[in-house]
Amino acid sequence: SGTKRINEKNHLEIGGVDTTDLVKHFGTPLYVLDEFEIRNKMREFINTFKSFGIPFQVAYASKALCTMAICYLVEDEGLSLDVVSGGELFTAIEAGFPTNRIHFHGNNKSVAEITMAIEAEIGAFIVDNLYEIELIESIAENKQKRVNALIRVTPGIEAHTHEYIQTGQEDSKFGFNLVDAAYNAAKLVHQSKWINLLGFHFHIGSQIFDMKGFEKAIERMAGFYRFIHDELDVELPIINAGGGFGIHYVEEDEPLSIREYVVSLVESFKYHFYKQGLKLPEIWIEPGRSIIGEAGTTLYTIGSSKNIPNIRKYIAVDGGMMDNPRTALYQAKYDAAIANRMIYDQSEVVSVAGKACESGDMLIWDIELNSPVAGDILAVFSTGAYNYSMASNYNRIPRPAMVLVNEGEAELIVRRETYSDIIQFDVVPERLKKNKV
Ligand code: LLP
Repeated sequence: SGTKRINEKNHLEIGGVDTTDLVKHFGTPLYVLDEFEIRNKMREFINTFKSFGIPFQVAYASKALCTMAICYLVEDEGLSLDVVSGGELFTAIEAGFPTNRIHFHGNNKSVAEITMAIEAEIGAFIVDNLYEIELIESIAENKQKRVNALIRVTPGIEAHTHEYIQTGQEDSKFGFNLVDAAYNAAKLVHQSKWINLLGFHFHIGSQIFDMKGFEKAIERMAGFYRFIHDELDVELPIINAGGGFGIHYVEEDEPLSIREYVVSLVESFKYHFYKQGLKLPEIWIEPGRSIIGEAGTTLYTIGSSKNIPNIRKYIAVDGGMMDNPRTALYQAKYDAAIANRMIYDQSEVVSVAGKACESGDMLIWDIELNSPVAGDILAVFSTGAYNYSMASNYNRIPRPAMVLVNEGEAELIVRRETYSDIIQFDVVPERLKKNKV
């Protein structure tokens, strides 16, 4: 998808740039982001909402991939930004992102993070628990600044996705359970002098392919808004349905289009809120993966291989779980190609291993590739979301660089880490230095 194509040299091209040229200039491993594709996805969300003529906000979930350049793109396309930590908030502020379009998430926000957010006058807190309500209340009072909040609820819906990325079921660390806990939280915030209650938030999971979970959750939320309306005599202006729209990693994945996700969501909101005799609140969503996931490709250089006759052939690349931990963590599946020989002459089934000292460090199990050899460039697709943002320096391996490609140009947006970067936080006590002979 996006602007990927095979050029005259039989090479993979992204955004009009030959990937073998990218490798020459920037080295491997390399994260490549297709700007056109990112902007397209953002526009598809915005334009579908606009076609309904209703008020809305689409907040990009920056946990999927957060860098300053990405914040610029998000701002440019008119989206809001969902942040979940002081680090993401700081990145947005440094990028000059309009703070009134920032929504702050998290189940254990610190005093320092809340203070930073209140000082920056962010758009809204997504409040997760009673402890946080107390903290916000006292810090807001201290700063004499009123804040907006949505209360996060757990609607009791299990999305059909990997258990580590489900979030809406009752037994979850996030949010207030329906109905009692959520109602008590609403009463508390409603009475607060410093917190302005805008509505509720729910998020049922990630990489979701069908709308059944959303529909069920929306039905419950509409009933809950009715209950709040009757008990507290307020018509809350906003509802936030979180993120979670699935994307295409491998052939068997069949996500809906962004337009289909949004249309179904809005229609479901209309149906259930009208049925409860309520006005349609302003709808907010927080997509991450569906905006940035398919726009990312990681380029690696293939090195060693190990053939175990009749069992498996491993080929190793110069990255691995350090730059993409998703296969090791979630048994995630990826598609890939030999970027310097796109048209197959001889196919071979191999498994792609990383270079970390750990057997679980695999990127792809059993994939058919154009008989890879050392020196080939492997392109792994759909790596834009939760790759760089979850990357580590395991084995003291520097993190890759990231480039943004568009219309034949490639620009660095994250520079490659160096060995000096790796040791920059190390401190050797003088006492140890003295003992060195
Ligand atoms: N809103 C909330 C409250 C969330 O918890 C998340 C994701 C999102 C929005 C964005 O979801 P998305 O549209 O990206 O699916 N590391 C895992 C995914 C964890 C998702 C965490 N929350 C992975 O690599 O699959």
